[in-house]
Amino acid sequence: MEAVPECPDCDGSGWKRMDLAGRQGVAPCSCREQSKAQQLIEAARIPPRYQECLLENFLPRRKHPTLGKAKTMASRFVEEYPLVDSGLLILGPCGVGKTHLAVSIIHALMLRYETWCVFYDFRELLKQIQSSFNAVAKTNEWQILEPVLQCEVLLLDDLGTERPTDWVRDTFAYIINHRYNQKRTTLITSNFQDGESTRRKLPDGSVVSGEETLAERIGDRLRSRLYEMCKVIRISADDFRVEIKQAQY
Ligand SMILES: Nc1ncnc2c1ncn2[C@@H]1O[C@H](COP(=O)(O)OP(=O)(O)OP(=O)(O)O)[C@@H](O)[C@H]1O
Ligand SMILES: [Mg+2]
Ligand SMILES: [Zn+2]
Repeated sequence: MEAVPECPDCDGSGWKRMDLAGRQGVAPCSCREQSKAQQLIEAARIPPRYQECLLENFLPRRKHPTLGKAKTMASRFVEEYPLVDSGLLILGPCGVGKTHLAVSIIHALMLRYETWCVFYDFRELLKQIQSSFNAVAKTNEWQILEPVLQCEVLLLDDLGTERPTDWVRDTFAYIINHRYNQKRTTLITSNFQDGESTRRKLPDGSVVSGEETLAERIGDRLRSRLYEMCKVIRISADDFRVEIKQAQY
């Protein structure tokens, strides 16, 4: 394990001077452990935009009570980990802080428990798997999937934005079922509202569509598997990006 170069206790050597019963000695410095967490954080693939997202700077706003609830559930999840029996499915409209909250959870897990966590944008993951089929690419499918299947906590961000072809559903089902069978924790964020479909077939056969639901996107079987694997956190709030902009003018 590597020491932290700017550590004041050991000047980055990894060994700190100690007084051992009157004699000068050295002992391993605790910054080596910090650097394990740091290494995990760096390897977790968290996009630069979200690298500073922590539970501490996830701000609940009084007019949106679900934010406070969501933060409490997230903090409890971190406290209880690894004694949690399910992952989390974070649902809510655009810009309410789903990705921020999910990233802050894996951040805390890596820092506190040195948990192996991996972030993947769902679309990006599909793209990488697809391009790995390309014989010219150096990586193969398994190399990309290995951390996705094996890591202790997987954060799949923005599920359902991809048009669900059979291939997309199969790939998602494969990942989810594998992690479920291995009892590994999965955190998922999604924009799709849950609940009854508002899509109706009229007697003349035409379809009136409302907003598409998660079940319509990923299918009933996968949705029910997700519910078995994850506790749901629902956030309903205004778009944070818009609120910040408005506050500036
Ligand atoms: N409660 C909050 N406290 C502090 N910052 C927040 C909060 N909610 C959102 N933000 C910030 O607002 C921006 C948008 O949040 P985020 O990307 O997490 O939203 P999202 O729900 O994932 O949106 P999308 O559906 O578009 O993926 C981010 O920069 C995030 O850090
Ligand atoms: Mg997001
Ligand atoms: Zn040190």
